[in-house]
Amino acid sequence: MKHLIDPTDLTKKEIDEIVALAEDIIAHRERYQGSMAHKKLATLFYEPSTRTRLSFTAAMMELGGQVLGFSNPQNSSAAKGETVQDTVRVVGCFADIIAMRHPIEGAPLVASEVSSVPIINAGDGSHSHPTQTLTDLLTIKRELGRIDDITIGFCGDLRFGRTVHSLIKALSRYHGIKVVLIAPDELRLPDYIKQDVCEKMGVAYRETDSLDEAIPELDVLYMTRVQKERFLDEDEFDRVKDSFVLDARRMALAKEKMAVLHPLPRVNEILTEVDEDPRAAYFRQVENGKLVRMALIISLMEWKDDLHCTNAKCICNNEKHEPRFRLAENGITRCWYCDSKVR
Ligand code: NCD
Repeated sequence: MKHLIDPTDLTKKEIDEIVALAEDIIAHRERYQGSMAHKKLATLFYEPSTRTRLSFTAAMMELGGQVLGFSNPQNSSAAKGETVQDTVRVVGCFADIIAMRHPIEGAPLVASEVSSVPIINAGDGSHSHPTQTLTDLLTIKRELGRIDDITIGFCGDLRFGRTVHSLIKALSRYHGIKVVLIAPDELRLPDYIKQDVCEKMGVAYRETDSLDEAIPELDVLYMTRVQKERFLDEDEFDRVKDSFVLDARRMALAKEKMAVLHPLPRVNEILTEVDEDPRAAYFRQVENGKLVRMALIISLMEWKDDLHCTNAKCICNNEKHEPRFRLAENGITRCWYCDSKVR
């Protein structure tokens, strides 16, 4: 069984397969209509969401499956003090796959440690948001015709923006990626991503605090909202909340084929005057989110029964333990218990 907790849980090949499947769904919607009949998706959302939760719901419905869950933890046993692990053990009795959003970083990971069904991280704190990443990659592919060889500018809240962290991790596996980090001092990308991802994986990056200076060279401009809910100090938020605003004047400085992405919701960082510009891809990106989540659900459900440990002496083949796997070096999948190569 495979979970999606971090974008690096997927190999580049698996990501490309999911993106290709989403493109096939776009071309042949009718073929996929009943593929999740009699299957159930649980959406466990401990944090506000519009797009992510509804796109998971719409994706499962379009595949012919059903959806249950909660969007307000106050209406769940979390309000009585139930742990995340206990909740997913319970929900695993009702659903075939779970999408979870949680304000606490690592919550979907600990859920996956005890879950009997695949867990999809739908966003954990400032940490990771892998399904937004799949959405972004599909959008870049559809807008520019490629994911390799692009210069992408990330603008706004690079410190708390989980969509930024996840997308940089995923892009680091592609060829010829140049990253421009556009943020005020207070909102710069965390060092661990610069060091462990960009420097280790050889992604060229530079930092600037001027959108005007950066915009002419970009193929993709990834705008973000300043993540008010993650600030501990309200004065600090007030100082940076209006750092960058994309308007028609700035769009005039950009390439003719640049694509503007934003995970949404926007607050004031993109003026509505930009919406009619053909390069504004953020509402098309929303539609891509549903399509790629359809592809992800199909893939995880296929992979669920696909993998098993072939080592007869592994504990999972000798006692009743749920087979579990981890993605190791060079895209190899290994048994979690005995390290045998399974794929
Ligand atoms: C993002 C998120 O939740 O991290 N939204 C989304 O999932 N589309 C971005 C944000 O909230 O700013």
